[in-house]
Amino acid sequence: MGKNKTFFVCLECGYSHPTWSGKCMSCGSWNTLVEEKKNQKNSNKNFRSKEKISPVSITKIEKGKGSEGRLSTGIKTLDEAVGGGIVKGQVILISGQPGIGKSTLLLQVTSNIADRKKVLYVTAEESVNQIYLRGSRIKGLKDNLFVVSETNFEIILEVISELKPEFLVLDSIQTVYSENLESAAGSVSQVREISGKITEIAKKEGISVVIVGQVTKEGSIAGPKVLEHIVDTVVQFEGERGHAYRVLKVVKNRFGPSGEIAVFSMNDSGLTEVENPSSIFLLERPEDVAGSIIFPYTEGSKPVLIEIQALVSKTFYPVPQRKTQGVDINRLSIITAILEKEVGLNLRDKDIFINVVGGLYIKEPALDLPLALAVFSSYRNKPIHSRLAAFGELGLTGEIRSVHFTEHRIKEAEKFGFDKILIPFSKDVNGKNIIKVKNIKDAVKVIQ
Ligand SMILES: Nc1ncnc2c1ncn2[C@@H]1O[C@H](COP(=O)(O)OP(=O)(O)OP(=O)(O)O)[C@@H](O)[C@H]1O
Ligand SMILES: [Mg+2]
Repeated sequence: MGKNKTFFVCLECGYSHPTWSGKCMSCGSWNTLVEEKKNQKNSNKNFRSKEKISPVSITKIEKGKGSEGRLSTGIKTLDEAVGGGIVKGQVILISGQPGIGKSTLLLQVTSNIADRKKVLYVTAEESVNQIYLRGSRIKGLKDNLFVVSETNFEIILEVISELKPEFLVLDSIQTVYSENLESAAGSVSQVREISGKITEIAKKEGISVVIVGQVTKEGSIAGPKVLEHIVDTVVQFEGERGHAYRVLKVVKNRFGPSGEIAVFSMNDSGLTEVENPSSIFLLERPEDVAGSIIFPYTEGSKPVLIEIQALVSKTFYPVPQRKTQGVDINRLSIITAILEKEVGLNLRDKDIFINVVGGLYIKEPALDLPLALAVFSSYRNKPIHSRLAAFGELGLTGEIRSVHFTEHRIKEAEKFGFDKILIPFSKDVNGKNIIKVKNIKDAVKVIQ
């Protein structure tokens, strides 16, 4: 009795509870506890080695394994996005919707690195033959690229210690299981154990590791939030499966700035980097149609001009529809309310659809202003000047607040010939193409 005890783990913070409860005792999140079984013997196993450790003065630390230069992935934009290549011992988590191209990208990267180093691609989802077929399709067959198809983590560890690769891919963490735990592959304990151990090995042996993480229906990384804390870098691979473009976004980075992006296009021979994404995204833009505006998007140093589309039409339902692609629906609700109150639009009997062209999911608040203007333009059925771009955060009283990277955004818009750039009033930036707007009322006057 009592040998295979169950316990409950919080998906947000990973805290274990002896009994189920609606609220996590550690982080206070609701409905995040999931049941897990544990093998008592190993459940509290500590990953850390038991070597004697003594503290060292920061000035006496020798240049260690982590500072011997960065490993190029062979893809320029990807190197730039992660801060100039991959650092030795760095652990990167890459996540994205099924079929988006994670395995393809990583096989290309491993193949490029295999020109210089010994690399190991561990697949727990596909057979070695599938990897071979993909490898030949992307012309990435290399002698130094070793492949193993295995789900047992202990066997994978043996392979790693025998082969001693310098770069390792684990595809995916949810399909690998450790014998030490009784819970199923992909469970919180398994993901935590495996990611913890892999990170320990990466740091100790100086192996750079990329872990593939599956995502939930809502798009967040499956497994505990602690996974994101354990790894050094978290990147998301986004895009619409039916479309050619994919965007890789660096969400967290211990070895460089976060918020950087790299854009790829998917074709027969794999993913090709797009060096100038703005021009690609502007290429298919319809001119002189209502509800379309350009937003200079950036969360890092590289801005991209993205088209935002809105469609406002009379509803035939008792409750009007609000649908968004690429932006949080709650943000749209707030913007709708601001437009009703401050600008006097009657949106209560209108359906509103929003689309961020290119398959990106944009979280940054600078999108508020272009989103509001796109809705306004569609409502009035009046096209916005085709060389007008806008950015700024909307406050609840309709004021337009300043955002990061103003100069970067303006520069990118001007590079592509935009001559009316709406920016928040408070920014100390001037120029012949710049129109400063204080609130949403001023902003809609510009496009009327
Ligand atoms: N012959 C081909 N030509 C063009 N594109 C292809 C071809 N074969 C596969 N693809 C593309 O590759 C995608 C699958 O890529 P990949 O297997 O790398 O995705 P993944 O993110 O690893 O998916 P999963 O989460 O299921 O493992 C397909 O959705 C398709 O777009
Ligand atoms: Mg895959």
